[in-house]
Amino acid sequence: MVKVKWLGHSTFQIKNGGYTLLIDPFISDNPKTSASVNEICADYILVTHGHHDHLGDSIEIAKRCDAIVITTNELGHYLESKGCCVKRMHIGGGDNFDFGRVILTKAFHGSSVIDEKSNIIYTGMPCGFIVQIDGVTIYHAGDTGLFGDMKLLGERYDIDLALLPIGDVFTMGVRDAAYAVGLLEPRIALPMHYKTWPVIDQSPDLFAEMAQRRGTEIMILEPGEEIEL
Ligand code: NI
Ligand code: MN
Repeated sequence: MVKVKWLGHSTFQIKNGGYTLLIDPFISDNPKTSASVNEICADYILVTHGHHDHLGDSIEIAKRCDAIVITTNELGHYLESKGCCVKRMHIGGGDNFDFGRVILTKAFHGSSVIDEKSNIIYTGMPCGFIVQIDGVTIYHAGDTGLFGDMKLLGERYDIDLALLPIGDVFTMGVRDAAYAVGLLEPRIALPMHYKTWPVIDQSPDLFAEMAQRRGTEIMILEPGEEIEL
């Protein structure tokens, strides 16, 4: 059994019997999670891009827990320079791990880290992830606009759970995310990246209403809630 817990924003914890994965662990500065970063550990940390609301606490958790960070080549080099153990990959590539398989998917967005002197360090392309674990396929879209190749992902993978941003302004909004559900045809879709701050205050109910017409089950969680697959 695979448990997927939403910690608010784009942060998810995926657990099976033996392993804990974190995706985009944005915890200490996340106004929507009551989780404490010190209490969170993982075997693997998957990071979609360098923006602070996604890279988040990855470095701290990776070092404390001896976790392996799975991310793009460029962001991976940056994280290695910060002392993290990294599995560098790139878009279209997959690899097998002891818990299952991860494939990096494209995302249309940016990826950068702001250093201590407020300089922007570009960290290559952002990505999304297909995670295959215990026979379950999860798609985390990362931060992205709508793109037509989501249809390709829907054809190539039998997606059980799609995690899609709906917050608008920086990513897809409700309408485009509902359209994405039609392209991906997942069994379940779950909205993320909304209401963290007023600028992305969008309605998950409207997303559910628009996406349900497409035959996918829409689940709306509160931060801290989890589903079992
Ligand atoms: Ni971003
Ligand atoms: Mn973001």
